[in-house]
Amino acid sequence: MKAIVQDAYGSADVLRLADIPTPEVGDTEVLIRVHAAGLDPSVLHIMTGLPHLVRLAFGLRRPKARVRGFDVAGRIEAVGAQVTQFRPGDEVFGFCKGAFAEYATARADRLALKPANLTFEQAAAVPVSALTALQGLRDKGSIEVGQRVLIIGAAGGVGTFAVQIAKALGAHVTGVCSTTKTDLVRSLGADEVIDYTRDDFVVQPQRYDIILDTAGRRPLSQVRRALVPRGTLVIVGGEGGNQWFAGVDRLLQAAVLSRFGSQRLRGMLATDNQDDLLTMKDLIEAGKVTPVIDRTYPLSETAEAIRAALAGHARGKVVITVIDQQTAG
Ligand SMILES: NC(=O)c1ccc[n+]([C@@H]2O[C@H](COP(=O)([O-])OP(=O)(O)OC[C@H]3O[C@@H](n4cnc5c(N)ncnc54)[C@H](OP(=O)(O)O)[C@@H]3O)[C@@H](O)[C@H]2O)c1
Repeated sequence: MKAIVQDAYGSADVLRLADIPTPEVGDTEVLIRVHAAGLDPSVLHIMTGLPHLVRLAFGLRRPKARVRGFDVAGRIEAVGAQVTQFRPGDEVFGFCKGAFAEYATARADRLALKPANLTFEQAAAVPVSALTALQGLRDKGSIEVGQRVLIIGAAGGVGTFAVQIAKALGAHVTGVCSTTKTDLVRSLGADEVIDYTRDDFVVQPQRYDIILDTAGRRPLSQVRRALVPRGTLVIVGGEGGNQWFAGVDRLLQAAVLSRFGSQRLRGMLATDNQDDLLTMKDLIEAGKVTPVIDRTYPLSETAEAIRAALAGHARGKVVITVIDQQTAG
């Protein structure tokens, strides 16, 4: 099968299109004919091996697995001996091993049937980013109807889902983004939008029950000033940190600051699970959440897609089209 492989850590130049064997399916896994693959910053971290901490998990000298990509949407080609939930031909989305390829394997319990109203490209945009937004707001933020929620990085992969999910859960939502993206964030349902190139959410008078921080790496001592006294800051991420430990410094800072005062400052690491994929499928099929696609690229141009994503100015999600839906049989 054709796949984008990488044999060393580095820039997008380490990626190349190659013919490699189709992966073998384990007993609890399925083989997916990949139609589309989503791109998110974790792919960039594993490609570059930065921050260095990622090498402990993914390979010290070079990545142990040659094919990148977690987010997948496609059709099931074959199922493992113990899989009863899916059949060949089912259209699914979720988390796999190596989505930038014609075929990928995935644990059956990391997939769900594709939302009926989405294309494969739209479905591939969902898993990592939407589940991060959902878990950040619901599990870490304990979001409640009527609360005021601030999304920092509202136009990015996680942010575009977070705005819509927070609205669907009944919150009053303010999105923080740059000038050219304010219309997008408003169109997603944000009640208010702050253009961070002109206004600073820290100094304006409004205070928030929950802040979901996905971008900018503002010192936490500043960000927390925009919280109500018993508010919650959920630290999702933000690029450009230390090359060794990335966001660990902010998480340590959060742990220290949380000891003083009544505000909660929480880090998070999203988990891939079927229940949350099903929650997103319901929200999407109910018309409450629609993935925002920045751009699609063919598989052969994955390196180009990654270079664009590395610039860090996404409008929603970048997606790799592996099979053109128009021509798929
Ligand atoms: N903890 C977890 O489990 C988890 C899971 C997924 C992702 N993450 C992390 O979360 C972060 C966001 O991921 P993503 O997929 O949303 O990234 P993304 O798609 O690249 O989006 C980043 C967004 O941040 C905006 N931005 C940059 N500086 C900003 C600022 N000062 N204020 C407000 N917005 C700003 C960018 O827009 P402009 O160009 O307009 O500024 C862009 O829209 C990444 O660091 C990622 O690694 C963590």
